[in-house]
Amino acid sequence: MNRPNESHLETLGKIAETKRIFTAIQTATGRRESLCLVITSGARGEGKTTVATGLAMAASHPKRRKTLLVDYNWYAPAIHKTFDVELIENPAGFYGAASIDELIVPTHLGIDILPAARMTDDSQGALSNVEGYDHRLIQEAKHRYDTIIVDTSATFPENQNMRDPVLLSSIADGVVLVFMTNRTPRSTLKRTTTAMRINGAKIIGVVANQWKNPILY
Ligand SMILES: Nc1ncnc2c1ncn2[C@@H]1O[C@H](COP(=O)(O)OP(=O)(O)OP(=O)(O)O)[C@@H](O)[C@H]1O
Ligand SMILES: [Mg+2]
Repeated sequence: MNRPNESHLETLGKIAETKRIFTAIQTATGRRESLCLVITSGARGEGKTTVATGLAMAASHPKRRKTLLVDYNWYAPAIHKTFDVELIENPAGFYGAASIDELIVPTHLGIDILPAARMTDDSQGALSNVEGYDHRLIQEAKHRYDTIIVDTSATFPENQNMRDPVLLSSIADGVVLVFMTNRTPRSTLKRTTTAMRINGAKIIGVVANQWKNPILY
């Protein structure tokens, strides 16, 4: 059992909007149990991990729904830092697991974590043909968890080292798009929604993150 990064999580817990957003998602999907969401954005650094973690916390409290938070942003993993868990050693360790139990790390917050796998230079090609595997993995998780939140990479720019959020979106009951107000061009958002819809993703809604990241401004 790991002790998460308390101060960061405390900050996230104060973002009251995530609770409202989670309730709105439940209403929109009509699913109170067995809800699987993919979180993505048009560009990098728009707040996906912040929103994904906040939604996982909103899902697990106060009703203690069994919640799994998945870090499928292998390109720039972050969930493991917030929850102070280890990355999976390499993609081979991820794909070689006999069951999801070998990969999941429980935390004392009642949220289980499926961390990202560490990518190295010789991991090239490790992400090819993953769609079937991911479907099986998430399907297995759906039998055990009430809520599954999947944090992913930005949809653009596409990168061969990323697990494509557009492909991952077909696993989920719905996709939540995060965009940073006054930063992300509308054209990027439009491109993202179009790519998602073409691939059959159900976009539940868009979270407008109004925080101004001083690093980006
Ligand atoms: N609403 C917010 N309030 C305070 N801090 C925020 C907010 N949104 C994002 N941040 C901060 O901005 C930084 C980037 O956010 P985050 O890691 O959630 O983005 P991301 O979309 O997951 O990035 P990446 O594309 O690299 O995965 C983090 O340091 C996060 O703590
Ligand atoms: Mg992130």
